[in-house]
Amino acid sequence: MKSKPTIISITGGKGGVGKTQVAVNLSISLAEQNKKVLLLDADLGLSNIDILLGLNPVLNLSNVMNNTCQISDIILKGPMGLDILPASSGVMSMVSQDLRFYGGLMAAIDTILDGYDYFIIDTAAGISPSVIPFLCHSDELIVVFIDDPTSIMDAYAVIKIMNQHYARKKFYVIPNCVKSMQDGSSLFAKLTNVAGRFLHVSLNELGWVPEDAHVRKAVQHQKAVVEMFPGSRISEAFRLIAKKLISQKLELRVGRTQYEKQPEKERPSAID
Ligand SMILES: Nc1ncnc2c1ncn2[C@@H]1O[C@H](COP(=O)(O)OP(=O)(O)OP(=O)(O)O)[C@@H](O)[C@H]1O
Ligand SMILES: [Mg+2]
Repeated sequence: MKSKPTIISITGGKGGVGKTQVAVNLSISLAEQNKKVLLLDADLGLSNIDILLGLNPVLNLSNVMNNTCQISDIILKGPMGLDILPASSGVMSMVSQDLRFYGGLMAAIDTILDGYDYFIIDTAAGISPSVIPFLCHSDELIVVFIDDPTSIMDAYAVIKIMNQHYARKKFYVIPNCVKSMQDGSSLFAKLTNVAGRFLHVSLNELGWVPEDAHVRKAVQHQKAVVEMFPGSRISEAFRLIAKKLISQKLELRVGRTQYEKQPEKERPSAID
């Protein structure tokens, strides 16, 4: 019997923090290490992944949801044997749907998950009803954030909602666009400080991703940075993150931080 994959959502609350870059490059890095990976573009109304990888899907999730085709018909082949489920762009029926819609979508996807090691979900920005169902369907959550007070607050907000409303206690986090390992650690500390004060959660830093000009060049060529510039600093960072995921088998040990919950008396404000 074939096994089911570990389902991982890449989230972060704030828009533009690098969720899609992490989802795409981490998926390819896992595939490079002989893992069978399926990547879902869950930004259902504003798809990006097919464009970023220079793919031209004829069919996408909107065709599946309006019963024009089967889910297996829309799978695209990406780098390193990565399989991709593309979303639509500018299709109103894919935006702001109800819970039944997401249940139907996940049920359709579940029929093709056998044999994959990882199912990676690149979520849209925000914590709206179009994001939460994917987070709830995931075994693990990776929260991507950058060194910006609004990004740290939004990452905290995702963690808080998933903890208080959906009883999630474990989160992986990835500081993105950092300058050095030290910067990555201090950014991780900013998030753990605020989460530790107000929530009972364990946060595990999967690694950090440097800000790297190769990303822009790769985007312009519609290639993933790990494919186009495998020797770059950022590609090495993604390889390390993929290795860490594989080595942990996503059984999150109590990581660098384990906090006791304290009464939520005040809104966290000092993030500096
Ligand atoms: N580590 C990095 N180094 C350099 N540029 C980066 C890095 N990570 C992301 N970017 C750039 O930042 C921008 C936002 O990245 P991305 O689209 O991955 O964010 P996102 O969180 O998925 O956004 P959205 O919320 O709109 O889906 C893009 O132009 C991307 O190329
Ligand atoms: Mg995105």
